Amino acid sequence: MSPAAPAGLIGKSTAVEFCVAEKTNQAFSSAWQDRLRALKNVPPVLRILWDSGPSVVVLGLILRVIVSLVPVSLSWVSARIIDNINAVVHHTTTLSTYLWWLAGLEFAIAIIGSLVGRLIDYYDSVLADRYTRHVSIEVMRHASQLDLQAYEDPVFYDRLERARVQATDRLGMIQSIGRLFQQAITTVSLSLAILLYSPWLILLLVACLIPAFLGESHFAFLSYAKNFRQTPVKRVLDYLRQLGGSKEAAKELKLFGLSAWLTRRFTTLSNQIFDENMALNRRRLVAVSLLSLLSTAGYYGAYVWVIWKTVTGVYSIGTLTFLMASIMNASNQISQMFSTLSSIADQALFLTDLLAFFEMRATVISKPDALPAPRPIQTGFEFRDVSFAYPGTSRIILEDLNFRLEPGERVALIGQNGQGKTTIVKLMTRLYDPTDGKVLLDGVDLRDYEVEDLCREIGVIFQDFMRYEMTARENIAVGRIEYLEDLDRIERAAHKSLADEVIAKLENGYEQMLGRRFETGVDLSGGEWQKLALARAYLRDAQVLILDEPTAALDARAEYQVFKRFNELTVGKMALFISHRFSTVRMAERIVVLENGCIAEEGTHDQLIARGRQYAEMFELQASSYR
Ligand SMILES: Nc1ncnc2c1ncn2[C@@H]1O[C@H](COP(=O)(O)OP(=O)(O)OP(=O)(O)O)[C@@H](O)[C@H]1O
Ligand SMILES: [Mg+2]
Repeated sequence: MSPAAPAGLIGKSTAVEFCVAEKTNQAFSSAWQDRLRALKNVPPVLRILWDSGPSVVVLGLILRVIVSLVPVSLSWVSARIIDNINAVVHHTTTLSTYLWWLAGLEFAIAIIGSLVGRLIDYYDSVLADRYTRHVSIEVMRHASQLDLQAYEDPVFYDRLERARVQATDRLGMIQSIGRLFQQAITTVSLSLAILLYSPWLILLLVACLIPAFLGESHFAFLSYAKNFRQTPVKRVLDYLRQLGGSKEAAKELKLFGLSAWLTRRFTTLSNQIFDENMALNRRRLVAVSLLSLLSTAGYYGAYVWVIWKTVTGVYSIGTLTFLMASIMNASNQISQMFSTLSSIADQALFLTDLLAFFEMRATVISKPDALPAPRPIQTGFEFRDVSFAYPGTSRIILEDLNFRLEPGERVALIGQNGQGKTTIVKLMTRLYDPTDGKVLLDGVDLRDYEVEDLCREIGVIFQDFMRYEMTARENIAVGRIEYLEDLDRIERAAHKSLADEVIAKLENGYEQMLGRRFETGVDLSGGEWQKLALARAYLRDAQVLILDEPTAALDARAEYQVFKRFNELTVGKMALFISHRFSTVRMAERIVVLENGCIAEEGTHDQLIARGRQYAEMFELQASSYR
């Protein structure tokens, strides 16, 4: 199944996906083996279910075994009651307490059946809650262990989003699995009871069930294949629904007047699904009705046979009612089993993403004998012949790059959009590993260091830093979460980044909830958020400070102040900053110009201006627009 990319799918590629799915579907429905593949998601789900509460699962199963034996026991006791009444009416025996015992027994079985039924409902809901909790925690835990690379892959992201929804959305499946277990035991117990009376009857039963069996299974799998085929479209529908209700999209949807267009798209696609469903339902109605005629004929064949056996004195009236009830019941159970099975298969389909997500493994991990990060750093970072292409893409972003960042140095990295500046930062922080070449720290490959320990020595604020919809204090504390309660340190970091001025204006100061998601939240401007993010880097108190366009949203005066302070605060530290503003860049001790994945030139501002090449040209371009 091809995973849906969020936006690009809505138009032409939906049709393509449909064609692909159509072919898949033809191949799919061709063989029984393939049909059964529908259920391949069930065992892993059972495993997750088991892990979320073994004792509840066992209890549920025991209760289900009890309740599934209720129908056969009830029919058997009623048969005995009927026989006893018959004997009393025909004076072959006298009315005795035996009859009342039987009536009492039937009553007891009925009570047990109903109580156990309630208990099953109770344990089902307990299991559902445990399952939801377990899966949600597992999804969070697993996601936190994956590479950044996974998060930047739209397919993965889509999958994670759906895994999150699936964690709670498919609870019906748990009940269905339990029900199937119960139906199977009931069917077996009824069949065994019939078998005890006559093997011929069981043959007749099987014969009359075969048409229903074929019909139900055929349509169950057709419906599964249909759902399989519709999955990409349903994802597009989900995406459109989300888009229509999302805060991020609301501004553009309103200003560009896109709502009607989105609704039309949604309507067209949902009509398509509705029509397909209706077509299959109609076919199912006709076919299953015809087949059920055959089953009914089989049932009445058995009926006639049992009546004949009864009038010829082989079976008692009680046995007649017992057998007929059992046959009827067994055939109902079997047809219900198929609809349960098909509902399980349907639901399992939607768990594909969850299971695939759990299968993913991180690649950027610490080696078993990893080294601690150097303290203090002696010779700094070195990119040695580093080439890099993002995993799954062929475009070389960095090619044979050689670059050094030495202790005590403050370097500005510049270059046009898309030249690979942020990519360099990602390599330095081991969010990715180079495709070729090495990134060294103090002469040792970064891959030989313990990842977490390495990260502790680097404070980095990315271009697309997070705006946590939490309090101001928490927004800074995320830089080093151990300091969450250490307001003193947090205040000092805020002072360094000029965030203290922002916080001073907030009604609740450091305890002010930020963002608009929660009721008491206050939104900040882009520049104000940026000052808060900067405070995180200062809070880290790391040996290396990397700022990727940290001042893009700051006004000219604020930017000047931030950088003046940055320069004061990073004396003797290693600092790398990326900026498009030359007013900032010129403050650096060394400027590195990146072009086409290589270093085009480097030096101080004055040296580069004197050289009169790329840097001088870019500088002149920016400066001239201010004149
Ligand atoms: N996760 C990714 N997967 C694939 N390609 C990517 C990914 N991230 C970035 N790229 C590509 O790598 C190239 C370099 O990106 P990078 O973010 O390093 O540029 P940059 O120099 O920081 O640009 P800007 O000045 O716009 O921030 C870009 O052309 C971009 O398309
Ligand atoms: Mg960038």
